[in-house]
Amino acid sequence: MFKSAMSVLRFKRFEKNSAQRRLNKAANIDDLRTISKRRLPSGVFDYIDGAAEDERTLKQNVSSFGNYHFKPRVLRDVSNVDSSTRILGNSVPLPLIFSPTGFTRIAHPDGELAVSRSATNMGIPFALSTLATRSIEEVGQATKAIVGESSHKPRNWFQVYVWKDRALLKDLLLRAKDSEFEAIVITVDTAVLGRRERDIRRGFTLPPKLGLGTVLDGIIHPAWTWGFLTNDPIRFANVVGKSDEDGSTAITLADHVNAQFDQSLSWKDIEWFRANWEGKIVLKGIQTVADAQIAIEHEIDAIALSNHGGRQLDDAPSPLDLVEPVANAIGSQAEIYCDGGIRRGSDIVKAICLGANACMVGRPFLYGLGTAGEKGVDWVLEFFKDGMHRTMSLLGAKTFNDLTPELLEHNDNKFLS
Ligand code: GLV
Repeated sequence: MFKSAMSVLRFKRFEKNSAQRRLNKAANIDDLRTISKRRLPSGVFDYIDGAAEDERTLKQNVSSFGNYHFKPRVLRDVSNVDSSTRILGNSVPLPLIFSPTGFTRIAHPDGELAVSRSATNMGIPFALSTLATRSIEEVGQATKAIVGESSHKPRNWFQVYVWKDRALLKDLLLRAKDSEFEAIVITVDTAVLGRRERDIRRGFTLPPKLGLGTVLDGIIHPAWTWGFLTNDPIRFANVVGKSDEDGSTAITLADHVNAQFDQSLSWKDIEWFRANWEGKIVLKGIQTVADAQIAIEHEIDAIALSNHGGRQLDDAPSPLDLVEPVANAIGSQAEIYCDGGIRRGSDIVKAICLGANACMVGRPFLYGLGTAGEKGVDWVLEFFKDGMHRTMSLLGAKTFNDLTPELLEHNDNKFLS
């Protein structure tokens, strides 16, 4: 017993030093992707990295940022650049939100606790997924416990997949309220699950099923396998003991979604949420100007322009391309978040110049988590903040309010003024 506790401690110390060494070699998010690809079993990496069908939307989410060029201004005294703004009424040091991601502990055993602590240390919102592998209460407690050190109040949001079982859903909302979650994020793009062909080929399940393939994969990824075997079993932590499908038997995500999610969901259900949730409401998965306008009629607090990281409908529009038309249509009636494809601080700046209030990122922090646990997530946040400050300095923009459409031009517009 004593011996095995010692070997766990020794492994943790070794892991901490090598995590730092791995981060020292990374220069950007793509490097974290490469490192985490090496460290994670192929099925796990592909679940995180993959998207629907031909993955065109996934690629376009990223490449759409290259369709705009900057129009930098000079000689504007950028000795004190300030990227801070407000999201849902509270200040943030940069306009960034951590998107909800399912099964986060498959990237690293510290999973959602690491990601939510890192967000709290930086002072930005973190959205916990319905399909999380740590519960509302665990995240509430972990983030409250570090408040003294970080001086930021936790800004936890709860992402809601609308289950057929409304009693279970109501209970989740009450628990989020009790744990002082600030907002709910209703995901509206998942009536059925997108066809994720990498997961189909690999037979990906939660928890990962043990077969010859996964055992071999485990042997060639020993650090991940050790973490998987020596930590709590991976479950849908929010519904353990409350639903037959809490992850204690391996299931595919498609089967889970098709069995549990309410396909009859429609705009009238928003009233149900209003009656059962007093806090702010974010609608995630808006992909047209028309739906953004309907969201305004329903007095939604914020709209996340999102195609679920390209994981649902392939050939859906990229969120960046929607920012300007949606901002023109709804003005400041609701906040606008650009969710998808952000890989640099300069990408955040572009989305803000076009009219977004903030950006959301998912894969970048999962690559950070897979590379180096919580330290990797901290690295990602510093990378975005530093990149945003550098871009603002080079653009001659001192504050968030200086980030206006005049600093940006679409590449199709050849006229340089
Ligand atoms: C879960 O939300 C997923 O997209 O896999």
